[in-house]
Amino acid sequence: MQDRSRNVMGIHTQTKCYIVTDLDNTLVGNSAATQEFNRKILSWESQVGLIYATGRSYDSAKVLQNRENLLEPHCWITGVGSEIYHQGILDQSWSDHLNHQWDRSLIVEITRDFPELIPQPYKSQNDFKISFFLYDNNAMEILAKLRDRIRAAGLEAQVVYSSGEDLDILPVRCDKGLAMRYVMMTLGLTNDNTIVCGDSGNDIGLFKQNTLGVIVNNAQAELLDWYREHGYDSDSKHCQRIHYAKATCAAGMLEGIQKLQPDLF
Ligand code: GLC
Ligand code: MG
Repeated sequence: MQDRSRNVMGIHTQTKCYIVTDLDNTLVGNSAATQEFNRKILSWESQVGLIYATGRSYDSAKVLQNRENLLEPHCWITGVGSEIYHQGILDQSWSDHLNHQWDRSLIVEITRDFPELIPQPYKSQNDFKISFFLYDNNAMEILAKLRDRIRAAGLEAQVVYSSGEDLDILPVRCDKGLAMRYVMMTLGLTNDNTIVCGDSGNDIGLFKQNTLGVIVNNAQAELLDWYREHGYDSDSKHCQRIHYAKATCAAGMLEGIQKLQPDLF
């Protein structure tokens, strides 16, 4: 039977907003706050949609979901946007879209000249994500050299550094925010009814999309640097759209959502 409360996109007509959130150190990090967030989401019923956007692989994110009792979201953006899953099924159209200008093996070849890059486990890699650990004090210089080398080889890629240790190399069309924009288009969401939440470098892509946003108080330096440079300008419309929370993790998310969507509270 047709669900009359849903429009042609499958969105409930009473949906006021969608929350697109990172997992580690944003939704997850303070169990009591995560459970409080879950209760709020359940109490809002179809007024609020939920999307997870994580650096983890889908399998690893599902393990976290079980461990932390996370609700099932509308869809999963995993591997820093390199994969999108709907009801456990990989979105092949998104994967096809990422192939543009992407030469994985040539980029891997270039990274071999950077001994400071320590490959992450096999499970953290995929066709559109090459990941390393980078702990060097000169990380910024190394990143700049790596970007130069990729460009000089006539290749294009995004180099994303998070939490002073995780380095992801992704296709130009790929980051959490670009994957979110694709999902927003398929769901018919707008910048004003989408709230992104994050804490680290791989979330900058989400904030760049100019939706509403919440930066949790425990955010990493690279995200705060981006916020100070691009988000916290009193002349720009952008700054009023991003709330830098006083509270940490999921408590910070609720604080920000209350500020940005007071009608829900
Ligand atoms: C997650 C992923 C890792 C990635 C990091 C930052 O920890 O498992 O591969 O580098 O997020 O995006
Ligand atoms: Mg995080």
